[in-house]
Amino acid sequence: MFPFIYGLPGPHRRIPEIQKKVAEFLQEIIAEHKEVWDPNEPRDFIDAFLVECEKMKASPNTSFTEKSLVYTSLDLFVAGTETTSTTLHWGLLFMVLFPDIQSKVPFCGCGVPGGYNNNNPCI
Ligand code: HEM
Repeated sequence: MFPFIYGLPGPHRRIPEIQKKVAEFLQEIIAEHKEVWDPNEPRDFIDAFLVECEKMKASPNTSFTEKSLVYTSLDLFVAGTETTSTTLHWGLLFMVLFPDIQSKVPFCGCGVPGGYNNNNPCI
């Protein structure tokens, strides 16, 4: 977006290299999905996206392409990683500060019959 920033010193200069590595990693994951892909049983986002790619393959202007799948997955990866880890980080720090609240938070399997499930959410 601001190409001039890559002329400035700093860790941001590694962004293109890191983005390339993550995109290559996602290409491997997509290739693994395609090996066992069953359009009638989509297991996750990648499977569902591949179903749309198949439906739209005759449309020249479709956004459902494999390249778009790589970069959409990359967006979710980037958007979800730092946010989730920072939220957990702060949650744990606050529990250290407030032990009375900590004692009310169910940790996985602790004292919950049947352990974790959708009715017994926990950390
Ligand atoms: C606790 C964890 C998370 C927090 C605090 C968080 C926070 C946010 C916030 C505040 C926005 C709105 C940004 C804006 O419009 O200015 C946003 C957007 C977004 N988040 Fe998260 N997020 C979290 C987890 C995730 C995860 C796990 C994913 C993906 C798997 C994700 C994907 C996205 C995407 C794709 C958008 C853009 C949506 C749009 O098109 O407007 N986020 N998130």
